[in-house]
Amino acid sequence: MGLEEARRRLREAKRVAVLTGAGISKPSGIPTFRDAEGLWKAFNPLDYATPEAYARDPKKVWAWYAWRIAKVREAEPNPAHYALARLEADLLARGGDFLLVTQNVDGLHARAGSKRLVELHGNILRARCEACGRRFPLPEAFPIPPSCPACGARARPDVVWFGELLPEGAWEKALRAFSEADLALVVGTSAEVEPAASLGRIAYTAGAYLVEVNPEPTPLTPLAHLSLRLGAVEGLEALYPLSSAPG
Ligand code: APR
Repeated sequence: MGLEEARRRLREAKRVAVLTGAGISKPSGIPTFRDAEGLWKAFNPLDYATPEAYARDPKKVWAWYAWRIAKVREAEPNPAHYALARLEADLLARGGDFLLVTQNVDGLHARAGSKRLVELHGNILRARCEACGRRFPLPEAFPIPPSCPACGARARPDVVWFGELLPEGAWEKALRAFSEADLALVVGTSAEVEPAASLGRIAYTAGAYLVEVNPEPTPLTPLAHLSLRLGAVEGLEALYPLSSAPG
């Protein structure tokens, strides 16, 4: 049940579901949350990533997001993002099915070419009007807080804060993909935040071959048929090398 088996299964799979977390974007220079140097080591999520924090001090929350947005704008997708976009294209080309569910809000999967993509926690480069609900991309420079281009009301970051619901339909799409997958791949997540953390277990319970890529063990590790103790770039290169012939 080693790497060779996982590679073969990835080449032969018909339905693949992938879950990514902050670890896949770390090589792109975007901080994780719970690592030694993660954001939640320096900032208290209760002060920045809850509706209550935003209601208390919207300018403070927006200033923190503007700081994160600047890092995201400087970042480039890395080979791990591109490997997943290639895997999607190869699977679709052979009549298979693929869904990439990300917890990340940095937009790097889309920039790497992923199309079958669900951004479970929203996107930090978009804002959402607090009055009319309109979503809009944030310009390079924007006032803090930004105003809705349609109705002028204040807009908030278009991300999911702790205690909030996931975007309409996102969870249902993710749940279906992981319930029906014959191979589930979980990359770069501590598997601690629900409901995303359950997707790997749901796939495993439904009979999927479960592969994890993470330099550290996680609660998912004991379930995985293969858990590569590697970074996303090295792990995806090992699982789905550039030379991987589709089909
Ligand atoms: N490649 C792959 N994984 C890595 C790498 C790397 N180069 N470096 C670190 N990791 C792993 C860490 O071992 C850790 O398990 O990435 C994981 C990052 O975990 P978190 O920081 O908890 O990030 P994530 O799992 O995405 O958090 C989930 O929590 O705060 C909320 O909404 C936020 O989407 C986020 C959610």
